[in-house]
Amino acid sequence: MPVMVASENGRRGMMAAMMLLREGGSALDAVELACRIVEDDPDDHSVGYGGLPNVLGEVELDASIMDGGATLRAGAVAAVQGYGCAITLARKVMEETPHVLVVARGAERLAAELGESPQDQRTEEALRRWRERFAERGLTPGATENLRSVARILTRPLNLQDKIYKAARVDTLGTVNFIALDAQGNLAAAVSTSGLGWKYPGRVGDSPLIGAGNYCDNRYGAAACTGMGELAIRAATARSLVLYLKCGMPLVEAGREALRDLLTLDAAEGQYMNIVTLTPTGEHAGFSTVPGKQYLFQRAEMDEPQLADRLMLE
Ligand code: GLY
Repeated sequence: MPVMVASENGRRGMMAAMMLLREGGSALDAVELACRIVEDDPDDHSVGYGGLPNVLGEVELDASIMDGGATLRAGAVAAVQGYGCAITLARKVMEETPHVLVVARGAERLAAELGESPQDQRTEEALRRWRERFAERGLTPGATENLRSVARILTRPLNLQDKIYKAARVDTLGTVNFIALDAQGNLAAAVSTSGLGWKYPGRVGDSPLIGAGNYCDNRYGAAACTGMGELAIRAATARSLVLYLKCGMPLVEAGREALRDLLTLDAAEGQYMNIVTLTPTGEHAGFSTVPGKQYLFQRAEMDEPQLADRLMLE
């Protein structure tokens, strides 16, 4: 019965989590473990330690976790600096506070109260890439007074020819997400990100927003997003897809309806949205607004995760 789906960068996390699920572990533990593995990986520049910094050179992390059980419990943190375990903090918000979303200084205080050790989340490589983007634009890091303009310039794709190519080449977006179905039939979903590289300080994307980047309900299914978070926030993408399932649409139709919602937003060039989804019966699919995108899935009997193509609108 156990099944997992994830964004393309979730391979190592998925393999570890699937071992846990095979031993009877819960979907909630599986998605947290899987996210932690990606958060701790300095080579993933879109999540946790080593994530691409904001325009000021600070790494700010967002994450959410949702339990598809009867009470639809959820927890999230946003704009967290100095701690890398964003998904675990999100789970602590869910399990140890009466809240759903705790941000910035509050989330950092919570981390300290929980005994987590603060750690600079910036790696040399991420800082090198951060400085390079300023240099490419003839700007000096830290030498600007108008951060809004600088953030806008720095998050635009560079030297790209056509719209599809632009979408595929954007390097400032990234996130990891996992959805798991455990042997008891419970679904859980987790999303973690350092958000949009060179973002305006305090910018929060879809990943920590329940209903936008993450939604999970044992009765109908779960959905999680990667890509330009502003799109999923405006279309409430994750919740919409699950709602379409609740209304009786088949999985592929529900995903395509969520894509249709995104189309109406008239996204700027280079902005795209990806969705993964998993139902209580283990049916899974991935969707994207742009071609060439894939997602990972693994069933308990599979030795390793496999890639599958994300569907687009026909
Ligand atoms: N999807 C991640 C973000 O926009 O922050």
